[in-house]
Amino acid sequence: MRTYTNVKDLGDLNAAIKEALEVKKNRFGYKHLGENKTLLMVFFNSSLRTRLSTQKAGMNLGMNTMVLDINQGAWKLETERGVIMDGDKSEHILEAIPVMGSYCDIIGVRAFAQFENKEDDYQEKILNQFIKYSGRPVFSMEAATGHPLQAFADLITIEEYKKTARPKVVLTWAPHPKALPQAVPNSFADFMNEADVDFVITHPKGYELDSKFVRGAKIEYNQDKALEGADFVYAKNWAAYTDPNYGKILSKDMSWTVTTEKMSLTNNACFMHCLPVRRNMIVSDDVIESPQSIVIQEAANREISAQTVIKRMLESL
Ligand code: CP
Repeated sequence: MRTYTNVKDLGDLNAAIKEALEVKKNRFGYKHLGENKTLLMVFFNSSLRTRLSTQKAGMNLGMNTMVLDINQGAWKLETERGVIMDGDKSEHILEAIPVMGSYCDIIGVRAFAQFENKEDDYQEKILNQFIKYSGRPVFSMEAATGHPLQAFADLITIEEYKKTARPKVVLTWAPHPKALPQAVPNSFADFMNEADVDFVITHPKGYELDSKFVRGAKIEYNQDKALEGADFVYAKNWAAYTDPNYGKILSKDMSWTVTTEKMSLTNNACFMHCLPVRRNMIVSDDVIESPQSIVIQEAANREISAQTVIKRMLESL
């Protein structure tokens, strides 16, 4: 595997889940693969889970790991060609990327949507420059339009907790005080559309996601109706995708918060969220603390999704 940016990079999804579950059972059984190999993780944005789980995954595989926080201690990077660099950005990304590549064997990159220009965000300008210029296998640790390590961990978690062969999985929008990118819901939809699940997306009008990710998923604008009979409820906020509102907050309707009352409409569903989560905006204290909440198990599986992807990259070196 040379790149990991979306579900297609995993190939046969059932085989990938099986491999991940084998990795989980024997996470130190592949240490030989990473001997004398270095993982570089580059963060343009903050992280708790991705940083720790990916570093742990690299260590499980016997790798040396390095972390670079671009906005804390590194030179500020210019990302556009043709710019006269007379401002506060001291280094161009076109030199920085191959230099980073020269110190490592595999690179993970986190670079969120900036909500300044939809085309720039949806062209994945930063991630794609790493893929083009680093000379190394590159995986997304959440880019502008996708978070495939999260979605892979989500799918592993659903596989572990499902009680029926084809569970009903509902992705529901929920309110949030700040504008958030569409990366997590995009990747979740990307994965659920490939998985053997009954997938429904619910959100207020105006929050339609990119059709490239939604594909054939059912859209239900009535959240209560969508939640009926759900086996998994995946809550997430995202800002508007469609023009002219790209990146804007259109609603903070608290009737979309996932509460005990909302969960009572489901088939005793498991509650999921990628974290970090704003309590009593996205989900009530009662729901996230209930036995139905599997957010901690879901976060723990981030180590497994990352290790499976890095393992495949090491095998291809
Ligand atoms: N879910 C997730 O990616 O968490 P972090 O932003 O803390 O890495």
